[in-house]
Amino acid sequence: MAEQPTSPMLLPLADGIVPQEVVARTEKRWLTAMTVVLILMMVVVVLTSTVGALHPASNVEVIQPLTLHLGGEFAESNLGTAIEPDGSATVRLIAEQYDFVPHCVQVPAQTPVKFRLTSADVVHGFLLPNTNVNTMVVPGFVAEVRTQFRQVGEYNMPCHEFCGLGHSQMLARVRVVPRDQFRPDSQGRVSCDPQ
Ligand code: CUA
Repeated sequence: MAEQPTSPMLLPLADGIVPQEVVARTEKRWLTAMTVVLILMMVVVVLTSTVGALHPASNVEVIQPLTLHLGGEFAESNLGTAIEPDGSATVRLIAEQYDFVPHCVQVPAQTPVKFRLTSADVVHGFLLPNTNVNTMVVPGFVAEVRTQFRQVGEYNMPCHEFCGLGHSQMLARVRVVPRDQFRPDSQGRVSCDPQ
């Protein structure tokens, strides 16, 4: 009969207990795998942020966000719905913490509508439920989305990019009216106020 070792470290391991060297080897392998994945993700973040710049998916058109109010396409007098010579509608909106300007826009049904948006501060989102309208609104860029409303009604347009503490309150409306009830003023513009 062989002599039993006296130190507990030298005793053979019971069934189901993994030896220390095997545990250490497995941990090292997982650490290496994790480090490789982390480095890979950092490379992807850096590469995509330098090569593919951040802008609305619809359109790459730059604009100076600090001087929007001073003139040009997004001056206050130019915001809202305008009817183009071809009969289509163009809606210009500014998204800012925490509202869309104007807060409500009116558009005719059965008419091509083009939304042009930009942000005065941070990244916002623009979404009309049950339509194809869904875009980011990034400061420094103009987002453009085209659609057509088949039915009259009122759409809520929530901001869907987290933009700060008031994000959840950032909501505006699009009121779609029948074509023959859509009456722009002499400048071809329409307000959403009750008439
Ligand atoms: Cu604007 Cu969220």
